[in-house]
Amino acid sequence: MLANKTIVLGITGSIAVYKAADLASRLTQAGARVEVVMTEAATRFVTPLTFRSLTGRRPIDMFDLDSEPGIGHIALAKMADIVVIAPATANIIAKLAAGISDDTLTCTVLATRAPVIIAPAMHTFMFQNPITQDNLAKLRARGFIIVEPACGRLASGGIGQGRLAEIEKIIGTIKQVMGKSDDLAGKCVVVTAGGTQEPIDPVRYIGNRSSGKMGYALAKAARDRGATVTLVTAPTSLPEPAGIEVTHIRTATEMKEAVAKAVSRADVLIMAAAVADYQSKSVAKAKIKKESPSLTLELVRTPDILTEVKGNFLKVGFAAESEDIVANARRKLDKKNLDLIVANDITDPESGFGTDTNKVTIISKDGKTESLPLLSKREVADRILDRVVGLLKR
Ligand code: PMT
Repeated sequence: MLANKTIVLGITGSIAVYKAADLASRLTQAGARVEVVMTEAATRFVTPLTFRSLTGRRPIDMFDLDSEPGIGHIALAKMADIVVIAPATANIIAKLAAGISDDTLTCTVLATRAPVIIAPAMHTFMFQNPITQDNLAKLRARGFIIVEPACGRLASGGIGQGRLAEIEKIIGTIKQVMGKSDDLAGKCVVVTAGGTQEPIDPVRYIGNRSSGKMGYALAKAARDRGATVTLVTAPTSLPEPAGIEVTHIRTATEMKEAVAKAVSRADVLIMAAAVADYQSKSVAKAKIKKESPSLTLELVRTPDILTEVKGNFLKVGFAAESEDIVANARRKLDKKNLDLIVANDITDPESGFGTDTNKVTIISKDGKTESLPLLSKREVADRILDRVVGLLKR
């Protein structure tokens, strides 16, 4: 989605400037045209040559006659699909809040109609200072999007909030903002991910091998296509995606409650989670001792979330199958009254639980069956969403 988009990347004088090199590189690799604008202070940390090498384009400076000919701040402001300032110092934030324009970056921001994302990076005391907070509040009120800095060890000493947000989070925010005009714009999508965990005692549970990758790929793809996304996730080791409301749950019952709450404003529910079918009838309060040679657990059914959840939204289910894949999936589609079901072929070692790829067949209520080759989970997510978009238009 970033291909052929023009991103003006403003870089200001912070030690976090080295991370902006990674950001510039990743945006360029994603196909974007990255026009870098550095403040004078930024050039003291890293030379423009670094960014020229990474983006293939010379950083723009309106006072430099050797700079890219024909590209001044007005041209930049017009061509920008988005402006991203990362890292943003307290100084640039104060200047923008006050409407000061005394260099290429501030002039470009003042002149642009494109959305502007600001990713602050500074010492905690500077970030928490009411002056900085007031300035950020002013910018927010004027429509700037602020990517909150992270907590952690700071180059200037100490631990606290002020580190530049993770690059993944900044890119996620860029995609979220740019997706606003895409084919899921204005739609609310709820996605479930991961394998639920049903406790046996305080340390043990019944679980499965779902990594959450498929559900997270769907949530991010829906976000990138403009949807407002809620991700209801069982425990995974995946980082929380930016621009998505994430609800963490553990058990099937908790997932049911979270889904019921999230679907109140949903257009689509996609259940990619592997929900445990059974839970222990009773959960031991203390850790079960391994004194006897055998242990019998009585299991009872968990709620069937897809069957029980009610509302006026599209329902998409998944089915991980090892035999009679299409027929079994179709049975689940009918039984759970779904609009679409995605049958996962888990006989393929590259497909299903924990893998980065999936081999699926998408089946709709009207019988339309589409078998896809082995694809990345992100590609599978987009193919599913293509079908969802088609159904939403009906
Ligand atoms: O997380 P990954 O490692 O990326 O792996 C992805 C996946 C293999 C977990 C995923 O793509 C997948 O196939 N999930 C469904 C697994 C499955 O076989 O579910 P099921 O047949 O038990 O359930 C069918 C559908 O009903 C599913 O959409 C499921 O979320 C839902 N369900 C199941 C049980 C239950 N109690 N409530 C439900 O809503």
